[in-house]
Amino acid sequence: MKVLFAASEAVPVVKTGGLADVIGSLPKELAKLGVDVRVILPKYEDIPHHFKERMEPVTDFELQLGWRKLYCGVLKLEMGGIIFYFIDNEFYFGRKGCYGYGDDAERFAFFCRAVLDSMQYLDFIPDVIHCHDWQAGMIPVLHRAHFSYLPAYAHIRTVMTVHNLKYQGVFAKEQFQDFFALGEEHFSGYALELHGGASFMKGGLLYSDFITTVSPTYAEEIQTPYYGEYLDGLLRSQQHRLQGIINGLDYEAFDPMTDAHVEIHYRDSLAKKQLNKLKLQERLGLPVSKEIPLIALVTRLVDQKGIALIDRVVAELMALDAQWVVLGTGEPQFEQLFRWAADQYPDKLSANISFDEALARQIYAGSDLFLMPSLFEPCGIGQLIAMRYRSVPIVRETGGLKDTVAPYNEATGEGTGFSFTNYNGHDMLHTIQRAVRLYHEPAVWDNLVANMKKKDFSWRKSAQQYADLYDRLVTRI
Ligand code: GLC
Repeated sequence: MKVLFAASEAVPVVKTGGLADVIGSLPKELAKLGVDVRVILPKYEDIPHHFKERMEPVTDFELQLGWRKLYCGVLKLEMGGIIFYFIDNEFYFGRKGCYGYGDDAERFAFFCRAVLDSMQYLDFIPDVIHCHDWQAGMIPVLHRAHFSYLPAYAHIRTVMTVHNLKYQGVFAKEQFQDFFALGEEHFSGYALELHGGASFMKGGLLYSDFITTVSPTYAEEIQTPYYGEYLDGLLRSQQHRLQGIINGLDYEAFDPMTDAHVEIHYRDSLAKKQLNKLKLQERLGLPVSKEIPLIALVTRLVDQKGIALIDRVVAELMALDAQWVVLGTGEPQFEQLFRWAADQYPDKLSANISFDEALARQIYAGSDLFLMPSLFEPCGIGQLIAMRYRSVPIVRETGGLKDTVAPYNEATGEGTGFSFTNYNGHDMLHTIQRAVRLYHEPAVWDNLVANMKKKDFSWRKSAQQYADLYDRLVTRI
């Protein structure tokens, strides 16, 4: 089984969000199951030099994008036993960052086209192209419209995975006509049309052979208007070919027993974990104390992550007998909220408005509780890392948070965290209050840790689900 992952980011070369973690780790697990999986990405300026200098040229050719003839290079680099291909065009990708340019439609149109064109030169025609998020969403459309009649491409099946339905790649219809040479029939409301423009994501959903998303609950949620981002009707109509497969965690990359950033290695010993907490408090300038629970927030500071709920009840939260550490960057009003809180409550909250991988790992290791009150969360990785580092998650019951965190039940002693249902500041507050109260009951905390230990959030099961899906698609007559 040959599978090509087409995506816009992957750890360790380039990352802006959780998508990169998936693309960096799932292929390794699929390879263990015997799938010949390779990855194709744009070659961005920001890829660190030591990766770029190891890349080998594979081919270059002239790509036709609408009326333009453009240079397209392909390079290759093996990482962790997986072959990564990189699409090279200085004009489109020789810039800082990944997204957010005025010509993103053209840049990712080029990428989608390049993925299909380059295959014939790669000595690797896959059985399945697995497309991730809107940036790869036009690949199934192009395949169906322009490639599927070519003998070498006819057998290829396409899978579209939604990591976040909010980002849909909507652009003017004229641009799509220009870049993709598609007839009028592709632009009706039953096809690419969305919000008066046309959408890469919608293209991927409609023209792929199968749709997946990154948790079973999110797969249900996106069929409702609240989470469906105006595509819920379409997704309801396609539910027979829509499946939620929960993301795993790379258990080697995230392991408090071997993590180079964690000072005192541990796995289940809360005593050793506490030593990391004391170091962390010292580093952050918070009062050093074992007794006071330390609650962490490591996240992009954006709406999706539920930061508005914290804003709503910040005074009550700061009145709790707890400490807070925040790490992340994002929307200015949320960055400002935490800067203000750190200023007002210097003994209670440490605001680190930056991205710092080493500090992130120390926070996972040193915190007692980990808050993720997301408005929506397709899967989420923070709660998985937190549980691996035995920091007890407090989450809103949505998407992957609901699927991975079992609420603690004082009667049975079961559960791995705390959760609340409604998107409401006081529901969150009451849940945090309860967590803080139970923190002082060692028997409860021992239970929580024992329960986390029993759970398996590695990729093993989910990789098997993807492998089974590929088999079903390829053997279907
Ligand atoms: C997106 C989602 C996040 C998910 C990740 C990887 O970043 O917001 O919930 O974990 O993709 O699938």
